[in-house]
This record gives sequence, structure tokens and C-alpha cells, in this order.
Amino acid sequence: MESKTKGSFEGWNEVWSSQSEQELTNPMYTESTPNTIYQFWQKGYANDLLALIKGKNYQSFCELGSGRGTTTMYLAKAGYEDLTMVDLAQQGFEIAQYSFKKHKLPMPKMVLENIEKTSLGDQAFDCIYNIGLLEHFDDPRPTLAESFRLLKPGGIIYMPIVPEQPVYKSIAQRLLFNPLALAKITAKSILKPGSKGNNINRTNYRRDFYSDICKDLGFKNVKCIPYNPYWKVNADGTVENKLTLPIYQWYYNTFKSKKTLSFETNTMFDLCFLLYAEK
Ligand SMILES: C[S@@+](CC[C@H](N)C(=O)[O-])C[C@H]1O[C@@H](n2cnc3c(N)ncnc32)[C@H](O)[C@@H]1O
Repeated sequence: MESKTKGSFEGWNEVWSSQSEQELTNPMYTESTPNTIYQFWQKGYANDLLALIKGKNYQSFCELGSGRGTTTMYLAKAGYEDLTMVDLAQQGFEIAQYSFKKHKLPMPKMVLENIEKTSLGDQAFDCIYNIGLLEHFDDPRPTLAESFRLLKPGGIIYMPIVPEQPVYKSIAQRLLFNPLALAKITAKSILKPGSKGNNINRTNYRRDFYSDICKDLGFKNVKCIPYNPYWKVNADGTVENKLTLPIYQWYYNTFKSKKTLSFETNTMFDLCFLLYAEK
């Protein structure tokens, strides 16, 4: 079936509606030690973003394609005040409003607009970020061009991109934690080639596709690096949370948390990419 989203907000309202109950009982944002793989990822991305902006005297932040705004919550918790979220899916903002209130975090500005062409002023922000956005666009260039326009000189973008990945990328983790899943995935790909879990478009562009666009738009110090070695390898959340996650947490706390970009990895293990650049 032809995807109906192609990087737009359509389809996302449905995603946020279906996840709103889960978000109330098992939210993405946590102020304690993460107890699901999703919380672990989100906290890791936020920690890396906080490490990148540390000491830079950045004041104004914008999450383009914010959804429920998990990363913006972490910035609010860290004391940043001038925070703007932009999205076209009202349902995501409703989850965000609930979550910010629940955690007694100051409410950011929420702008219901197309991120490819916003009404926000030129050079309005020191930092523009999002998590898991650009891979949903067949053409990410308008969003990156808008980011460039909105960014102040000296500002940065921070954008983890989660492309459609070949199974071989996760073989090491699956052999270690869930070898049965490898057999299942292989059988499924033979029986039902091309079958997808949901209706949201996910591209599989290479890293240099994104960095080339950024260089072309005028960004400086552009990097698109292999990122996040912590794959989800068990369909069953309980097994994942009790077995895989504690080992990941131990590894992260022992070896990774001391690095500036703690989710940086090598190309054999990357679940996603991190695109970051300066204006
Ligand atoms: C993967 S979600 C972001 C999730 C977010 N990181 C979080 O933790 O809640 C991507 C978001 O981008 C938004 N989006 C996609 N295309 C858009 C567009 N053209 N204009 C505005 N928002 C858009 C979707 O509505 C969706 O909420």
C-alpha cells in the first residue's frame, strides 16, 4: 500500500491517539533510571544534546516535529526556558500538555504549523533539534532549509535519524539476546517480503545523503555519524526490560556516559544516525 504520510503530519494524529493511553501509564520521559528501552533511548539522546550545548550560552531552542515533546521536557528540566515546539499533529501537543503539567515543568510555546515553512522569524533560535523525524521525509531538504533559516549564526542542529535498517545491523545483539528472533525475521522476510509494521513512511537514505544537503545549504562542521548501539531485540517488553536493558545500562554507565556523545558507535552497530551541524 502507498504510504499516506511521506513525511507529513497525516497519520501522526492516529499514532498519538493510539499511544496517548500508553503515554499516561508508561511515559517516554522519566526523571529516574529508565526502565524501558524507549525511555533509555530518549534519555540518552537528551543527555547527548545537553552535553553538546553545555557551556555555549544558548538561550532559545526549537523542536521541529516535536510530537509529544520528550526531548523538550528534558531541556525544561535542565532549566532552559525559551523552548518552542512545532508540529501539525494536535494530538501530540495534547500528550505534551498533560506531561509537562504532570512533571510540573514550565509549558513551552507550542506552534501548530508545517515545519517546512513556519511563520517563525529568521535567526530566532540557538539550537534546533528533533528525534526520529527526517527519515519520514522523502525529501528532507525543505525541513533542513527551514532549520537553517531559523538558526542564529553559531547555532547548531541536533537530529538523530532512524532509517529503515537491514537486519544484519542488529545480528550481534540478536545473537546475544534473542537468537530466535533472527530465525523469525528471516522466515517472515521470505514469506512476506516488504511487509511493514505501520503506515508511517520510513526511508533508507545513507548518511552522506543528509550531510550533503546540509553542506549545500551552507551549514558548517557538518557531521552525520553512526549512532545508538542499543537495539530493541525482544518483541516482548518484559524480557527486554529485565534482560537486555540492565546490560545496556551497565555498558552505558561503565563506558559511555563519560563521553560527550555517549550514543556514538561504529557502523556495525548503529541503530540510527546523528546529524549535527553549525550555522
Ligand atoms: C517521530 S515523531 C517525533 C516524536 C518526538 N521525538 C517525541 O518524542 O515525541 C515526528 C513528528 O513530526 C511531525 N511532523 C511530520 N511532518 C511534519 C510537518 N510537515 N509539519 C509539522 N510536523 C510534522 C509529526 O506530526 C510527528 O509528531
